[in-house]
Amino acid sequence: MSILVTGGAGYIGSHTCVELLNEGYQIVVLDNFYNSKPQSIKRIKELTGKDFPFYECDILDREGLRKVFKENNIDCVIHFAGLKAVGESVKIPLKYYYNNVTGTIVLCEVMAEYGCKNIVFSSSATVYGMPKKMPMTETDPVDIAGITNPYGRTKLMIEEMLRDVYRSDNEWNIALLRYFNPIGAHESGKLGEDPNGIPNNLMPYISQVAIGKLPVLSIYGDDYPTHDGTGVRDYIHVVDLAKGHVKAVEWINLKKGVDAFNLGTGTGYSVLDLVNSFSKVNDIKINYKIVGRRAGDIAVCYSDPAKAKEVLGWTAQLGIDDMCRDTWRWQKLNPNGFDE
Ligand code: NAD
Ligand code: UD1
Repeated sequence: MSILVTGGAGYIGSHTCVELLNEGYQIVVLDNFYNSKPQSIKRIKELTGKDFPFYECDILDREGLRKVFKENNIDCVIHFAGLKAVGESVKIPLKYYYNNVTGTIVLCEVMAEYGCKNIVFSSSATVYGMPKKMPMTETDPVDIAGITNPYGRTKLMIEEMLRDVYRSDNEWNIALLRYFNPIGAHESGKLGEDPNGIPNNLMPYISQVAIGKLPVLSIYGDDYPTHDGTGVRDYIHVVDLAKGHVKAVEWINLKKGVDAFNLGTGTGYSVLDLVNSFSKVNDIKINYKIVGRRAGDIAVCYSDPAKAKEVLGWTAQLGIDDMCRDTWRWQKLNPNGFDE
């Protein structure tokens, strides 16, 4: 069985390629390197000792996609390709809608042309909007009005669009994977997150403070109704998340139609919990200061991962200390990310 991984050079995609190859799947990888580097493809091959076809291609390029499908017998697509910077999406929304929504339309049209109707989509906990209760379960209402940015809205629009595709043609099988907060890196230290410029997300910021690239972490608020006043999130190790995709492909093969799954650990940690764990595990001090809340942030967000366990047979195995240890190994071994 051959799986096309779009956005396979990126952070979550590259880790997923490794897990798929380790499980014996054939993969074909596509990326336009908008937010990634060719070195990650090289590292996937080094780590697994396996080769696979790679296409430098944009999902908006219909002819380019046709070539990929023509030259390979693709059974299933794992669709990571997308833009994901929340702040940027507020500034240039049309680029986000075009890339993410139109890109997915073109991809699905070409898939259908070639008779491939199996897709795993990278969605996000952001589709729940402003949650009314915790933990979040898949039966909670999704809420476009509660989503504070265009990036998040593209995720919900694509989810709804894919559900419509299934309604129109029951031959499709679609897994909508709602990620919570992926962090960590491959334990080899060869793959990890390589953000452009100053990171927006917490873990890459912490590790850049740790290595001395940034002077101090700003903690956005210590007056939330949480155990220490800082925001609580469901951090999930990227390798656990990658393994969730392998399970989703197995589920797709059972031809169950369309469904959504939370991929999280079910446990929430605060900003200070993460900072303290990083300091303890890696024996390194993180300078931080408390500043005001970040606009659009919610106090607490964590998953109920029971459905993924029951239906996909998947549970996260790695804990917060593993996430901190592996992030630091990646950062230390690759101070400039994939730039060798
Ligand atoms: P990433 O930016 O590292 O990976 C995305 C990859 O897609 C990049 O390699 C990029 O070059 C590629 N890409 C973007 N647009 C493309 C296009 N038009 N054609 C071809 N390739 C294109 O991001 P990631 O963190 O690995 O995220 C993967 C997916 O998971 C994204 O869809 C993202 O929105 C989603 N997601 C990520 C998070 C997170 O916290 N990282 C959370 C929820 C959902
Ligand atoms: C953010 C996005 C979300 C996206 C997710 C993963 C926003 C409002 N939400 O979620 O849509 O799906 O990233 O890409 O941007 N924090 C600090 N200091 C920092 C950075 C973060 O204190 O420098 C805090 C935040 O206030 C939050 C926690 O750390 O409490 C996690 O933040 P972050 O990593 O940005 O993830 P989310 O806010 O959950």
